[in-house]
Amino acid sequence: MFSKALLRFPASINPAYKINQSGRLAAPIVPAARYRATATRSFSTTPSANDDTNGNGGLKKRLLQRPSAIAQRLPDPDVEHGPHRLREFELDGRVFIVTGGAQGLGLTLAEALVEAGGHVYCLDRQEKPQQSFYDTQERLAHRYEGTLHYRQVDVQCAKQLDDVVAAIATEHQRLDGLIANAGIQHVCDAIEYKPDDVMKMMAINFGGVFFSAQSCARQMIKYNIPGSMVLIGSMSGLIANRGLRTVVYNASKAAVIQSARSLAMEWGKIVETEDGMKPIRVNTLSPGNIMTPMVQANFDEEPHLKKMWEDGNMLGRLSEMREFRGAALFLLSDASSFMTGGNLVIDGGYTAW
Ligand SMILES: NC(=O)c1ccc[n+]([C@@H]2O[C@H](COP(=O)([O-])OP(=O)(O)OC[C@H]3O[C@@H](n4cnc5c(N)ncnc54)[C@H](O)[C@@H]3O)[C@@H](O)[C@H]2O)c1
Repeated sequence: MFSKALLRFPASINPAYKINQSGRLAAPIVPAARYRATATRSFSTTPSANDDTNGNGGLKKRLLQRPSAIAQRLPDPDVEHGPHRLREFELDGRVFIVTGGAQGLGLTLAEALVEAGGHVYCLDRQEKPQQSFYDTQERLAHRYEGTLHYRQVDVQCAKQLDDVVAAIATEHQRLDGLIANAGIQHVCDAIEYKPDDVMKMMAINFGGVFFSAQSCARQMIKYNIPGSMVLIGSMSGLIANRGLRTVVYNASKAAVIQSARSLAMEWGKIVETEDGMKPIRVNTLSPGNIMTPMVQANFDEEPHLKKMWEDGNMLGRLSEMREFRGAALFLLSDASSFMTGGNLVIDGGYTAW
């Protein structure tokens, strides 16, 4: 039996552990196949996991080439209360997709996942990401074990999305999570709204989120990896924003919030593992007003909106992008293992008056 203790002991005992540049003890990044050699043997409680007597040997063999679902998803009770703090928030070695990650909220959330140890791929329709992406990539490269990457993808194109997400999953032999964040906004009087603009908004804000979830779920199922998805909704999917004429945007965000519930229901037990059927969890994160390039564009066109929105919530200010980092990490990590079909509203109290 492989010793559990070896996983816990520091660099002096387990040479796979390294002291990183910030002086922290860093757990090794373990590719799926190697991970199995430690994690599966340490945590598996199924004595017949290796035998072929039930005629399901092919599946078991494939599963044994991947980290055990228990090792991936549940804190080891022995170390849960050890000196290693809040282990359930760690993302070491896991692989994530963040759409709309060339700038703004998507990039900020991607950065948080890398800091927690994830390998994060930002997908965006821009040919190249903004300079802030490269600055973030450079900063992270010197401090953390996770990595940040970029791929050009238009989320309206289901085939392109499928190909890119499949290639990423194949490279890592796994996919663990998605933040479906790509979105647009269009301010227009309802009475003037053009049919093409309605279709475009729904194609990106709803279609793009749905296709992203679909592509990622296919890979999670293929590689037997229970996963977690965060669909970026908005408080605008729950209420009408004071003074903002965005009827179709608001409807698209309501569609996102509703689709998370339906996907959570369909995917509650969808991933085959050696410990039975496991979920792809799906939740929505619904922010209030955030200072991002999208919102700056609103203020450039209608400056009076800034004060109106600040006064609209209980904290009397707009939020900053970094105030959503913790929520994204919570929703994508084992810390939220019993949460699915939910909508986490973070709006400074705007919808709670
Ligand atoms: N800023 C806010 O106050 C606020 C509030 C609630 C929700 N949101 C939501 O947060 C998300 C991010 O918004 P943001 O404020 O950072 O906006 P942003 O415009 O700064 O970023 C959106 C990103 O999505 C990308 N994108 C747009 N269409 C795409 C497509 N078809 N394919 C691939 N990428 C595409 C853009 O290129 C951009 O990089 C959006 O879904 C938005 O609706 C924003």
